[in-house]
Amino acid sequence: MKIVIVTGASSGLGREFVRQIESLYKELDEIWIIARREDRLLEVESRMMTKVRIFAADLRHRSAFDKIAAALQEFNPDVRMLVNAAGFGKVGEVEEISSTDQADMVRLNCEGLTYMTCIVLPYMSTGSRIVNVASAAAFCPQPKFSVYAATKAYVKSFSDALGEEVKKRGIFVTAVCSGPVRTEFFEVARTEEDGQNAKDNFMKEPEVVVRQALLDAARGKKLSVCGISMKSARIATKVLPQKVVLGVMQHFWK
Ligand SMILES: NC(=O)c1ccc[n+]([C@@H]2O[C@H](COP(=O)([O-])OP(=O)(O)OC[C@H]3O[C@@H](n4cnc5c(N)ncnc54)[C@H](OP(=O)(O)O)[C@@H]3O)[C@@H](O)[C@H]2O)c1
Repeated sequence: MKIVIVTGASSGLGREFVRQIESLYKELDEIWIIARREDRLLEVESRMMTKVRIFAADLRHRSAFDKIAAALQEFNPDVRMLVNAAGFGKVGEVEEISSTDQADMVRLNCEGLTYMTCIVLPYMSTGSRIVNVASAAAFCPQPKFSVYAATKAYVKSFSDALGEEVKKRGIFVTAVCSGPVRTEFFEVARTEEDGQNAKDNFMKEPEVVVRQALLDAARGKKLSVCGISMKSARIATKVLPQKVVLGVMQHFWK
């Protein structure tokens, strides 16, 4: 049985991955979709032709993986693609954000993604893809978004190293490092009304980011960066002194 697994499938990028994957990969038997909001996952399912298996799970908790691990064991599928899109961020200085939110970002964005990858990897074969949704925030430390940026640096680093390990099995790992995307992300990220912000100048639609990510994954690329501005930002973080980059980033989040 050939399947694709997508976390964070109830909205934004994850939901868009599910939509585009269905139209691209006709030979799939099932798509497994994961997030907390079951009603949203049912809505996604209602728009699909491919058989969908829903896992309503909070990936901050290790026990949430039990059902997924049990299903993998039961069906022994050939996982053609794993998309780790579940994630969230909170904007604000470290002292302004609750310690629970800070720790939860690490639990979901890093631990959850790692655990999911580890339980799925044994079910992957030659040509399988892992698409880890990191962020352009992975390119440099970001004051006022510091824990989030650090979690995404982890995702990128983990993806790069894992990609080297699994290439001998013919498996490719792509880290998606996009700039701001028009999803529910910023509703979760901001505690107060989100006024005009530097990020708005770089905002992309999820369709465009996901199309680029799937193209890059198909080509076996390690990194997917959508758009010239984020590609330039990446180069700038590599060539400029960190002091300068940090100074610029100070002003990015109001
Ligand atoms: N939007 C951007 O500007 C942007 C830019 C770069 C990278 N990213 C990354 O892209 C990924 C997707 O975000 P998005 O922009 O699509 O935002 P989104 O619309 O808020 O989607 C986030 C997804 O993660 C799921 N999720 C959140 N907490 C969860 C938990 N505890 N357990 C399981 N699932 C959980 C949400 O579903 P439930 O709430 O139903 O659980 C939702 O499906 C994230 O990793 C984010 O860091 C976003």
